[in-house]
Amino acid sequence: MSTSPNATTESPFLAAAAGRHYLHTPVWFMRQAGRSLPEYKAIRGDGSILEAIKQPHLAAEITLQPVQRYGVDAAVLFSDIVVPPHAVGFGIDVAPGTGPVAENPFRSPQDLLRLRPLEPHSDLAYVIETVKILARELPASVPLLAFAGAPFTVASYLIEGRPSRTYQNTKRMIHLEPALWHELMERLTQHAVAFIDAQLSAGAQAFQLFDSWAGALSNSDYREFVLPHSKNVFQQLRELHPTKPGIHFGIGCDHLLESMYEAGPQIMGLDWRTSISAARARMGSSLIVQGNLDPALILAGAQPALAGAERVIKDNAGHPGHIFNLGHGVDPATDPTILEDVVAFVHESTRVEQS
Ligand code: CP3
Repeated sequence: MSTSPNATTESPFLAAAAGRHYLHTPVWFMRQAGRSLPEYKAIRGDGSILEAIKQPHLAAEITLQPVQRYGVDAAVLFSDIVVPPHAVGFGIDVAPGTGPVAENPFRSPQDLLRLRPLEPHSDLAYVIETVKILARELPASVPLLAFAGAPFTVASYLIEGRPSRTYQNTKRMIHLEPALWHELMERLTQHAVAFIDAQLSAGAQAFQLFDSWAGALSNSDYREFVLPHSKNVFQQLRELHPTKPGIHFGIGCDHLLESMYEAGPQIMGLDWRTSISAARARMGSSLIVQGNLDPALILAGAQPALAGAERVIKDNAGHPGHIFNLGHGVDPATDPTILEDVVAFVHESTRVEQS
């Protein structure tokens, strides 16, 4: 996507993001930095992840660990999707083994008072500092990826107050208090844009918008209550950073893919339920995709993991616009040596000689 020929020819990730094949199919893993790595556990310390993120040298080192161990083609900032609401004082934390927890969930118009606009230079100076360290320390061929939670997925945590299977409070607000819902989504749109913009401005080269739980919605509810806001996020970021590609990802979103693509990403993230060839049949043969090995196959062992990786590569059928990833994040119980094998396998089996 970069207009500078060097940037696109030096990074397999940025080349694939622009629909060009350079050296090999690039690989990175969602949640590649984290509890599956012994070197992470050794330096992470106790306490909330949100406190670890506030230490730029620690956060930068954790971001670099999987790059050093796996030889992946992108680094993803050690951060979290609830960093913006935490930073403006909403009252949300991440409980180990559970996920985001808010003692006082978002349930009424008064709760908007706890969601003022995000001002990254004062609220998130530590994130900006971490990105600047990484921009200096990462190899030129390994871009740093920025990310934020999409407005819907962050809203679901604020409203439910903890991880949910049914999203019943979220759906109740959507259908009983649509004006309050849209106001909340507008605030979270501002947070996502300001959060990603701060990371891109400090040196990150691409971004991912995580709408992990959007698959809980029907396509018609997604289109009415979510799409306008996610579209707004991509539009604003394209105006601010026209050369920096964006990825849109959710889990169990097969029924939403066309709608999520309409939001305006350059790259569609797929989970393992949707084949790459089916996504291109539906959304166009030039579709640039990221995905989509089932993370459970990594847990199953080296043989099923490598056989699964081979099927993903075959499914892509030599298309230059493919970024290899899992269909969701690395599970904490993952054996890191199997991920090492997967990276080596994808690189070797897709390597082309440059003329
Ligand atoms: O991908 C990476 O390596 C970068 C770091 C990253 C984290 N969270 C660090 C983290 C990313 C990209 C995220 C995104 C995120 N956070 C999402 C979207 C991706 C997805 O998985 O769908 C969501 C839904 C969250 C919210 C969240 N934060 C959850 C569900 C959890 C797990 C809770 C648990 O302990 O089981 C977290 C905590 C978290 N975020 C950890 C890490 C490394 C583990 C906790 C820790 O080390 O203290």
